[in-house]
Amino acid sequence: KRARHEAIGARALAQCRGYGKLILFGEHFVVYKVPALVGAVAAYTDCDCEFLEEPGLTVIDERPAVPHYKVKKADEAQEAIQLTLKHLNVDTTKRGVKLTFGGDLCAVSGIGASAAQVVALARAVGRALPLKMSEDEINAAGYEGEKGYHGTPSGIDNTAATFGGVLRFCRTDGAPIFEKKKLREPIRIVYASTGITASTTTVVGDVRAKKEADEAWFAGLLTKYEALLKRGESALDAGDVNALGKCLDENHALCQELTVSCPELDALVDAARSAGAIGAKMSGTGRGGLMIALTPSAAVQDKVKEALSKLAPQVWTTFLA
Ligand code: MEV
Repeated sequence: KRARHEAIGARALAQCRGYGKLILFGEHFVVYKVPALVGAVAAYTDCDCEFLEEPGLTVIDERPAVPHYKVKKADEAQEAIQLTLKHLNVDTTKRGVKLTFGGDLCAVSGIGASAAQVVALARAVGRALPLKMSEDEINAAGYEGEKGYHGTPSGIDNTAATFGGVLRFCRTDGAPIFEKKKLREPIRIVYASTGITASTTTVVGDVRAKKEADEAWFAGLLTKYEALLKRGESALDAGDVNALGKCLDENHALCQELTVSCPELDALVDAARSAGAIGAKMSGTGRGGLMIALTPSAAVQDKVKEALSKLAPQVWTTFLA
């Protein structure tokens, strides 16, 4: 009987997941309503929600995380949880809520850990109330939560966290437009952390200030990016990993021009390429956080992982499918 109970518990949690993500093309540009490509990773955050008699909010955070991540993000996480609960009309001054976060997604800058957390939260609250929520409603709740982590989220992270897979995503003045991409083959990736936890609010705010100071400069980069995305997406659709890798390299160069890369990211990108990656770039907010490398075979994936492990405090391998 106990085993059955545990199995049901496990299934309930499985329904309360949010996936991590890696941006293939278009971090930062996506904020300005141009399309981007993102891939959800298999690793997820899950959430269990329990209602209690005594009012108040208790959060138990058992997610694996890189050192300092949780401390640095504590205020933003609190705000994100409150915003998500508010959006779902849960008032913790009237009703006690106990949230337990877990899962196998390692919280690190760049992986969309915040989005995975609020999407898992929205699912768990929906299940506990209970509230029948569509996937779009879960995504919308996640978007509200993401505002706790940064003021003007494009919505790309919560969309990947909700729907999984590889997505083409475009922010609009209304609901975002996105579609699932069908890949010919899973994409083999190595990703590594600089060990630096970046603030998305600060970096996105900085890009905005630079844009406002020189609109012509930003428009030039945006034009280059849009042409690059077209080639990148065609390469993805055709399953042409060599062309895809070249486009990832070019996107990294655009991130450098945008000033969101940093010496630590550049060093990891160079090391991945030297070890045989057919393309590498920073991924996500930048100025710390993560980089990704495209590896055409298991052998190259191993080699790149080994090379990056000498420089990066954390390295992971995954498939995007
Ligand atoms: C963060 O994962 C991606 C950014 O483009 C911000 C956003 O899209 O909201 C930097």
